[in-house]
Amino acid sequence: MNDTSAVISLKNVTKQFGKFTAVGNVSLEIPAGQIVGFVGANGAGKTTTIATLLGFLNASQGEVKLFGKAIRPSAAHKSHKQIGYAAGDMELPAQLTGRQYLAFLGRQRKGGVDNYKDLLERFSPQLDKKIHTLSRGNKQKIALVAAFLGEPALVVLDEPTSGLDPVMQEAFLNIVREYKKRGKTVFMSSHYLQEVMDVCDRVLLMSHGKLEQDVTTAQLQAMGGKQVHVQTSYKATKPPKGAESITHQIDDDLLTLRFVYKGDMTELQRWLAAVKQLKDVEVSEYNLEEAFKSLYDSEEQAA
Ligand SMILES: Nc1ncnc2c1ncn2[C@@H]1O[C@H](COP(=O)(O)OP(=O)(O)O)[C@@H](O)[C@H]1O
Ligand SMILES: [Mg+2]
Repeated sequence: MNDTSAVISLKNVTKQFGKFTAVGNVSLEIPAGQIVGFVGANGAGKTTTIATLLGFLNASQGEVKLFGKAIRPSAAHKSHKQIGYAAGDMELPAQLTGRQYLAFLGRQRKGGVDNYKDLLERFSPQLDKKIHTLSRGNKQKIALVAAFLGEPALVVLDEPTSGLDPVMQEAFLNIVREYKKRGKTVFMSSHYLQEVMDVCDRVLLMSHGKLEQDVTTAQLQAMGGKQVHVQTSYKATKPPKGAESITHQIDDDLLTLRFVYKGDMTELQRWLAAVKQLKDVEVSEYNLEEAFKSLYDSEEQAA
C-alpha cells in the first residue's frame, strides 16, 4: 500500500524518554475504512504510540504521516479537522462547561456538527456543569461526544471505554459499528479484548514497545480451540498429541494438567477416556483472552 491511501502511516517510529525506549521501531499502515484495536499490557507503549502519531509527542526517530502527509508535531490533531481524539483519562478544559467546550470544538470541525444532537441522545452527558466538577465517567462521555463530533474521517481513541458503565460502553460500540459501515477509520486502544473482537477488523498487540502481532480478528477467531484442565493422581499422565501451552503442576499427590487443544475432538475424547485415576476434568472454550494472556503475564512480571 502506498502512503497516500493510508490514513495512518508510521515508519520505523521510535520514542525515547531519556535512555528508555518506550516505543521501538514501530511501522504500521492503517488504510481508510479499517477499525483497528490496539492492545497490550500496561506500560507496553500504546499511549506513547498514540501520542506520537497524533503529534502530541515528537518521535525520536522515524516518520509519521496522517492522510499521506507528514504531521506537524504538537498540532496534528488540532490542525486536522478530520481527526477526532479521546482518551479515558483525558484532560478537558476544566473551567468550561461541556456545552461550551463542545460548541468550541464544533466551530473548529469541518462538516459542521450534524451529529451533535444524535451524540447527546446516545451519551446524555451533563452539559451545564463545569467539567472539573464531573465524575470520571461523565467527563468520559463529553470526551467521546467530542471525538465523534462532526464525524471526522479518523477517530483515535486511547482506552475509550475504561470508566464507562456497560450501557455507555454499548452506546460507544454502536457508534463504532456505524462508523465502520460508513467507511470511516477508527484506531482504538483497549484492555477489553471482547470489545476489540466485537467491533475491530484488525488487532495490533504491543509488548515492551514493540509491535508483536498484527492480525485480523477473523484470524484470531480461527485460532479457537479448547482449554483443557485435568486433575489426576496418576502423576505420569502425559498430555495428548498436539496439545499446546501445556502446564503441569503437582500438589501432594495430585497432578494438574492444563493445555490448549485444537485437534480432532474424537482424539481428545479417547485421550480423556484413557487418563488413569482421573479426579476432575474441565473442557472450556479457548478464547482470545487466553490467547494473549501469556504475553500479558510475562510483561507484568518483567515490569
Ligand atoms: N513522559 C514520560 N517519561 C518517561 N517515561 C514515560 C513517559 N511516558 C511514558 N513513559 C514510559 O513509557 C512506557 C510506555 O508507557 P505508555 O505508552 O503509557 O504505555 P501503555 O499506554 O501501553 O500503558 C512505560 O514504561 C512508561 O512508564
Ligand atoms: Mg495507556
